[in-house]
Amino acid sequence: MERGKGEDKEQVIQDGVAAMAHCYKGFNPTAYLQYNYTPPRADFSRADSIVPWKLGCLHRAFTEGDVGGEMLVDVGSGPTLYQVLSGCEVFGRVVLTDFLDVNRRELRRWLGEEEGSFDWTPYLQHVCKLEGRSPSAWQEKAARLRSVVTEILPIDVHQPSPLPPGTLPSPGADCLVSSFCLESVSPDLASFTRALGHLSALLKTGGHLLLIGALGESYYMGGPGVRIPVVPLDEAQVCSSLRSSGYTLLHLSTYTLPPDMRVGVDDVTGIFFVKARKM
Ligand SMILES: C[S@@+](CC[C@H](N)C(=O)[O-])C[C@H]1O[C@@H](n2cnc3c(N)ncnc32)[C@H](O)[C@@H]1O
Repeated sequence: MERGKGEDKEQVIQDGVAAMAHCYKGFNPTAYLQYNYTPPRADFSRADSIVPWKLGCLHRAFTEGDVGGEMLVDVGSGPTLYQVLSGCEVFGRVVLTDFLDVNRRELRRWLGEEEGSFDWTPYLQHVCKLEGRSPSAWQEKAARLRSVVTEILPIDVHQPSPLPPGTLPSPGADCLVSSFCLESVSPDLASFTRALGHLSALLKTGGHLLLIGALGESYYMGGPGVRIPVVPLDEAQVCSSLRSSGYTLLHLSTYTLPPDMRVGVDDVTGIFFVKARKM
């Protein structure tokens, strides 16, 4: 029997998604952390370093007063925790998620205070400073984060229901945060937009989405020799994907990488930060 055009199109999408999953087989959390979460990209003495810029955006978004509720879900956490350091003060329950077991294990290592886990201390200190606390309060913040993370779940943003059934209360989370996930796991812009729509299944109507992502990026290194393709986005495409996936844009900021942040582990030219609300 002949296949319809719709079925062919769906097959192309599925093939693209399967190819992306294959790329992630070589993802190396230790190398990824080293490439992106150490200086110069995480230099807390410089306001123009990537990580302080992201932490500043998250701090502002979580302290403007409109984001709140009980549950925060981080989509595609990877091996990183910086993206929930501000949100963990606002929400009583934080759910971390990732597609790969190696990343979920890396997160558990830090939560379990295991030796050799990544050192998030300078990040915790920096966010304490943003919150007007002494940097020495970082241990309280670490304890707070460890106490509010209730689950670390598998996720696949290409599924209409990305999380295992029954893991979230039925109206969904109060807030989602997601950083550098959708554009780096989607084979093309259409799949990126579709994944954004799938996320809305996890979010309450009226809930907030805080989205951080790469601009103009076509690949990044997920480990030595592991080149992962990325959908190169511009601001207009991000805004249009949000609109067509049922979100109202509340705020958009962008950052342009200074030349010395281009360290050869990707070809990213900028970063966007979006605060949006599910309609
Ligand atoms: C570029 S990393 C971002 C990690 C982290 N959020 C950060 O800010 O650095 C992309 C993450 O997406 C995860 N991922 C891969 N395929 C996915 C999928 N289908 N659904 C959800 N996450 C996926 C990867 O395991 C990886 O941790």
